Amino acid sequence: MRLLVIGAGGMLGRAMVAALVNAGSDVRASTRAGAGPDAFDHGIIGPSVDLAVRDTVERIADFDVVINCAAYADVDRAEDDEASAFAVNGVGVGWLAERCARIDAKLVHFSTDYVFDGRATAPYAVEHPILPVNVYGRSKADGECRIRACDVPHLIVRTSWLYAPWGKNFVRTMAALGRERAELRVVHDQRGRPTSVEALAAGTVRLLGAGASGTLHLTDSGEATWFELASHVVRRVNPACRVLPCTSAEFPRPAPRPGYSVLDISRSEALLGAPCSWQDAVDDVVSRLARSDGA
Ligand SMILES: NC(=O)c1ccc[n+]([C@@H]2O[C@H](COP(=O)([O-])OP(=O)(O)OC[C@H]3O[C@@H](n4cnc5c(N)ncnc54)[C@H](OP(=O)(O)O)[C@@H]3O)[C@@H](O)[C@H]2O)c1
Repeated sequence: MRLLVIGAGGMLGRAMVAALVNAGSDVRASTRAGAGPDAFDHGIIGPSVDLAVRDTVERIADFDVVINCAAYADVDRAEDDEASAFAVNGVGVGWLAERCARIDAKLVHFSTDYVFDGRATAPYAVEHPILPVNVYGRSKADGECRIRACDVPHLIVRTSWLYAPWGKNFVRTMAALGRERAELRVVHDQRGRPTSVEALAAGTVRLLGAGASGTLHLTDSGEATWFELASHVVRRVNPACRVLPCTSAEFPRPAPRPGYSVLDISRSEALLGAPCSWQDAVDDVVSRLARSDGA
């Protein structure tokens, strides 16, 4: 089976390529600009794909599975750049689905907890009606719809609150700020589920192996607010730093966020078993950060 990972240089893309290499898969890594020799082993560099440029999508050939880790993922910037967000997360994903259908490839695609409105009080089931509260969420919902509208074998994996020892993410930011500052204020009125990209990538490889299709939710277990997640990280890097709760209104951002976005993962759990707790996964990443950042 030949697999292509699109967006291989992103936070999740890197983990996805590593998980597939570890599993001994025949994988190629694709970035928008073309991966440099230092990014990946030369032997696994695949065709360069820009989801906003149809010709590059049409060049995808000879793969059995295409895993799309690429996205316009800047939630705040999307508010003022709706056209770009929809071009990549909506129209581009639709082109990719059509291309996969034509070359007989299965499309694996990642979506987000931000397709939901955030007003639930219990984990969102896969079938819960989607009603995004920001541009990014609407663009991701558009991508989902385009895949389902196309006659392509697919697996859409909705996930949430991703972090890794690399890339720009909340856990790394809080670890760095916690080391520098005496006090931090972090929002305590948004509740979700932090998820390690490495666990997500490993789980996705297993879902593929199990022949999963349709839409599934996959995250680590437990739930937290950003304040609780920050407190957990900072306690490990600098217990002297005080983390204080605040409201979203006190820390306004361009894009509104859903207040509650925990995903019901019972279906993926039935296939994969229980995932690790977000606390254990964060501890693992923070301990590796401490080594790599020299702290
Ligand atoms: N981060 C989260 O908390 C979160 C939560 C839920 C779901 N997700 C979903 O998980 C997936 C992975 O997210 P991530 O956090 O790994 O994002 P990321 O680190 O921002 O990586 C996104 C990748 O997409 C690439 N990309 C952007 N525009 C592109 C285009 N037009 N054509 C091809 N590649 C393009 C970027 O390449 P450049 O470096 O060239 O820009 C980057 O490598 C996305 O589908 C995202 O919506 C993320």
